[in-house]
Amino acid sequence: MLFQTTQDHEALRAKLRAFAEREIKPVAFTLDQGNQFPDEAVKKLGEMGLMGIPYPAEYGGAGLDMLSYAIAVEELARVDAGAGVILSAHVSLGSWPIFAYGTQEQKRKYLVPLARGEKIGAFGLTEPNAGSDAGGTETTAVDRGDHYVLNGGKIFITNAPKADTYVVFAVTTPDIGTRGISAFIVEKGWKGFEFGDHYDKMGIRSSTTAELIFNDVKVPKENLLGREGDGFKIAMATLDGGRIGIAAQALGIAQGAYESAVEYAKERVQFGKPIGFQQAISFKLADMATKLRCARLLVYSAADLKERHEPYGMESAMAKQYASDIALEVTNDALQIYGGTGYLKGMDVERMYRDAKITTIYEGTNEIQRVVIASHILGKAPK
Ligand code: CAA
Repeated sequence: MLFQTTQDHEALRAKLRAFAEREIKPVAFTLDQGNQFPDEAVKKLGEMGLMGIPYPAEYGGAGLDMLSYAIAVEELARVDAGAGVILSAHVSLGSWPIFAYGTQEQKRKYLVPLARGEKIGAFGLTEPNAGSDAGGTETTAVDRGDHYVLNGGKIFITNAPKADTYVVFAVTTPDIGTRGISAFIVEKGWKGFEFGDHYDKMGIRSSTTAELIFNDVKVPKENLLGREGDGFKIAMATLDGGRIGIAAQALGIAQGAYESAVEYAKERVQFGKPIGFQQAISFKLADMATKLRCARLLVYSAADLKERHEPYGMESAMAKQYASDIALEVTNDALQIYGGTGYLKGMDVERMYRDAKITTIYEGTNEIQRVVIASHILGKAPK
């Protein structure tokens, strides 16, 4: 039994592990090579009720806790990091803001099909001039009476163009900074809403990532999420939770690479014994296991704080920053243990090494995580 996991959590882990080993692992390399979205697996996750894990049954969800959600992302990422981020972006970024800030009407119309896995969700925040500085949003939404007119674009959007429902941030009141940003629910297929090319990424290649392009898109007034001007706070609060998902994804990647390295270290014989019994390799494995345990405790405890409605923004940033930093170290060590064999295409550790890198970049670079953590420690800087 792990920290604060119950038998139910471990039963869910076993179910997810069996699913991921059966449905995703055998095709993970093909998906990676082909830049191919795991349509079938995502459909089955929906049928299993897992696309809406932490949402109440009345909104089509599984009614499980945040720890269950973290375990689900971890287990998918253990075999395929792309599958992990598809679930994370859908649950945390595409669905959560609607759950937390949506009207009953919006929840019925948008959250229910998302939670049931009938639709896929995504989050449109990042722009060419608004990456780490998310407040630099330039996309505009102009009030035209019964609707807004959306113009601009978003880059690096996970789950686009597969996603059906997008939470999009745009400036409604210019020149007043972050307080002039609002959030909207935007549907794929609306006139003027198009997608740029699918990015050809280094890793997480089974997840889709594309640009969103808005040309005079009419967004009905009822699709404003929260109040006008609340958008930046909605984005920040969403990311506080989203970072638990990315931390769980990083943890899963590291776990997958570690297990693979342990297996190989027991099999591969050099100097008359398995390399795992050579101190250089056994110490590496010991360090990898320790880092994984630290990361798991951080991820699960952040999930638990969120579940208990206690402040968790600092803890989720710590979990994301630490789990992704160690994912790079652990996948690097795993590949090192494999030596030349690990450097070959088709080896899990080669893919995991590439997959790990993004976790230190998206949902706030690890430099931004440190900004967030420091701001919790120190408060606002004196003017
Ligand atoms: N919750 C609620 N409100 C918050 C908040 C939070 N966590 N953090 C800040 N705010 C509020 C502040 O209280 C402040 O409110 P007032 O106007 O009332 O004072 C307001 O937001 C502005 O706050 P700051 O002055 O701190 O904002 P800032 O402009 O200095 O930016 C930042 C802070 C932390 C650097 C922020 O810009 C940030 O998080 N940047 C990173 C963006 C990011 O993570 N992008 C990821 C994109 S999504 C993605 O990557 C997904 C994927 O692909 C899978």
